[in-house]
Amino acid sequence: MQIVRTLLGLREAVNTYKAANERIAFVPTMGNLHAGHLKLVEEAKLSADRVVASIFVNPTQFGVGEDFAAYPRTEVEDEQKLAVAGVDLLFLPSVDDMYGDSAKTVISVKNLSTLHCGASRPGHFDGVATVVCKLFNRVQPNLAFFGRKDFQQLVIIRAMTKDLDFPIEIKSVETIRESDGLAMSSRNSYLGLEERKTAPKLYQALCAARDEMLMGKKAVQAIEQDAKIFLQNAGFIPDYFTVCRASDLLNARQEDTDLVVLAAAKLGKTRLIDNIAFTVAR
Ligand code: PAJ
Repeated sequence: MQIVRTLLGLREAVNTYKAANERIAFVPTMGNLHAGHLKLVEEAKLSADRVVASIFVNPTQFGVGEDFAAYPRTEVEDEQKLAVAGVDLLFLPSVDDMYGDSAKTVISVKNLSTLHCGASRPGHFDGVATVVCKLFNRVQPNLAFFGRKDFQQLVIIRAMTKDLDFPIEIKSVETIRESDGLAMSSRNSYLGLEERKTAPKLYQALCAARDEMLMGKKAVQAIEQDAKIFLQNAGFIPDYFTVCRASDLLNARQEDTDLVVLAAAKLGKTRLIDNIAFTVAR
């Protein structure tokens, strides 16, 4: 696996792939890699000649008082995992290489970026969209892989790719979970022992809400409200728990069939997010 740390180094490597007419799949990450990230690499390998991964803890998607400094950085282990997984090229830029000291441009995907997680984390999705846009311009992949674990992020990246005419196919990958249902996340390492035992209840609440939606007997608002009470009683501080249309993340209406339940909740200092998408037969 080749490792490059600058735009110049990346361009050189990518140009050799392009000259050989090779299709490039791209997997952007913030590192501290787990089986969820590696699933993206596995899928990427199946659909292209070359896989480029990036590790960049992007400061612009962290708000004031959030965990940018504390975010787990495990570069040596990550490099090993990516090499074993068969990544061809790893891009590991510095903050200076990505932004310099005078970056002025921000990509903002209107409406979508201020809902749900965007309401609790103002500016977060502008940071995500901007860095992914820059990475797309740098790597120039044919395909890019994102996890459904971050459902709102996926919808935002799809919108940005379409609106800005990137000739890139966005592929989504299922959420990889621990054996007790907890969605894998770099932030799970913040959980204390007791919190870790409680954490799978977030997924349980999502499954219960989906099942109630499928039964169709209970009002959506009651399903959402009961889930929040269940989470509160389990020791979470719920941020949002909402049944939405999968396409635009707006409130589900009676006639909508492709739905997603999105949830975010704090357990101690750790903010967990998860979701479950499903189709209702009408
Ligand atoms: P990060 O949290 O490192 O996630 C990188 C990719 O892995 C994202 O597409 C995310 O959805 C996916 N992923 C995370 N946990 C997963 C799981 N349990 N199962 C399947 N996929 C999972 O998301 C980011 O980084 C950043 O916002 C980024 C897109 C790199 C921009 O900075």
